[in-house]
Amino acid sequence: MSILVTGGAGYIGSHTCVLLLEAGYDVVVLDNLSNSSPKSIGRVEKITGKKIKFYECDILDKNGMRKIFKENDIDAVIHFAGLKAVGESVAQPLKYYENNISGTVCLLEVMNEFNVKKMVFSSSATVYGMTDKVPLTEDLPTSANSPYGQTKLMIEQILTDLAVSDKEWSISLLRYFNPVGAHESGSIGENPKGIPNNLMPYITQVASGKLEQLSIFGNDYPTKDGTGVRDYIHVVDLADGHLKALDKLNTTKGVMIHNLGTGVGYSVLDLVNAFQEANNLKINYKFAPRRPGDVVTCYADPSKAKKELGWEAKKSVVDMCRDSWNWQKNNPNGYDD
Ligand code: NAD
Ligand code: UD1
Repeated sequence: MSILVTGGAGYIGSHTCVLLLEAGYDVVVLDNLSNSSPKSIGRVEKITGKKIKFYECDILDKNGMRKIFKENDIDAVIHFAGLKAVGESVAQPLKYYENNISGTVCLLEVMNEFNVKKMVFSSSATVYGMTDKVPLTEDLPTSANSPYGQTKLMIEQILTDLAVSDKEWSISLLRYFNPVGAHESGSIGENPKGIPNNLMPYITQVASGKLEQLSIFGNDYPTKDGTGVRDYIHVVDLADGHLKALDKLNTTKGVMIHNLGTGVGYSVLDLVNAFQEANNLKINYKFAPRRPGDVVTCYADPSKAKKELGWEAKKSVVDMCRDSWNWQKNNPNGYDD
C-alpha cells in the first residue's frame, strides 16, 4: 500500500516516514524543500533499510502532482506540507494563504482526479485560540490568533465541506500540541532555519553554545512558577498517531478530529530543569517580557484519540529532552555540513 507524504522531508514528516516504512508501507514523498533538506530522506532510508520514492515538487504544482499520482498507486495522503512560522505569517499573510490554503486545494483537486479520497491532515492546537479552558477537548470552539492559525482553521473547514459534499472521503484532522524530541538514532530531527522560534530548539542551541542565553518569555503568568505551560509531545509518539489515524480511515468515512498530546502540561522552567537533569548540562537563561500572542496554559485532553484510535503518547519528558539533545549534539548544524 503506497502512502503519499507531502512535506515528508520535514521534521514531523521524516519521523512519520520511518514508522510507515517500518510498518511495511511503500512511501512516496513530495516536498519542495523550502524548509527541509533532502538529506533527511537518505537518513530515513538508512534508519529503516528501505527506499523512499522522492519527488521535489510543490503542492501548488498540479501537473507535478498529477505525474506523482500517475506513477504511483497512491492509497492515502498524509499532508504535512505547509509553512509554520507564526511571526512570519503575520508579516507575510499572503505567502501563508497561498502556500497553505491554495496548495492544499490544488492537492485535493488532484486527489479527486485520481479518486484518492483518504487524507490525514496536520492541524494544530493553535485552532483553540486564546482559551484558558484546559484540558482542551476537540469540541471546544475554535479561533485563530495569526494568519498561520487561520490557515489551519480554514483547511479544517475546507476538508469538512469536502467530506459533506462527497461521502467517499475519509479525513483525519490531527491537532498537534508541542512536538519536540527526535528519533532515538539521533540522525533525524528538527532543523530550524536561523534563530529558532520554539522553545526546545532554542534550549538545545544554548546547550551546544550556538546561542548564548535562553530568554524565558514571562515569569508572571498565573501558573505554578509564573512561566507558560504547554503539552510537549515526543515527535515519534506524534508520528505513531498518524499511523493509527491512517488505520482508522480504512473503516471510517467523513471527518474525524483528534488531539495529539500527552495531556500533561509542563512549564518553561519544568522543561529547562528536565533538560538539565536528563543531559547533565546547564542552560543559561534569563526572564524576559511576555511574548505577544502567547496563551498562558495549553494542554490536551487526549482521551478521544485513545478511545477512537487506540493511540496514546508513551514517551516521557526525559526521552524528549535526551533525544532532542542527542540530535543537536550529533548534528550541530542540522543537515548542513
Ligand atoms: P517542517 O517545516 O519541518 O515540514 C514541512 C515540510 O513541508 C517542509 O519539508 C517543507 O519544505 C514542506 N513544504 C512547505 N510548503 C510546501 C509546498 N508548497 N510544497 C511542497 N512542500 C512544502 O514542519 P513540521 O514541524 O514537520 O510541520 C509539519 C506540519 O505540521 C505543518 O503543516 C505544520 O504547520 C504542522 N504543525 C507543526 C507543529 C510544530 O510545532 N512543528 C505544530 C502543529 C502543527
Ligand atoms: C508556537 C506557536 C503555535 C505553533 C507552535 C508549534 C506562537 C504564539 N505560537 O506555540 O501557533 O502551533 O509554536 O510550532 O508562536 N518560550 C520561551 N522562550 C523561547 C521560546 C519559547 O520562553 O525562546 C516559551 C513560550 O513563551 C511558551 C513556551 O516556551 O510558553 C513554548 O513556546 P513555543 O515552543 O514557541 O510553542 P508555542 O508558543 O506553544
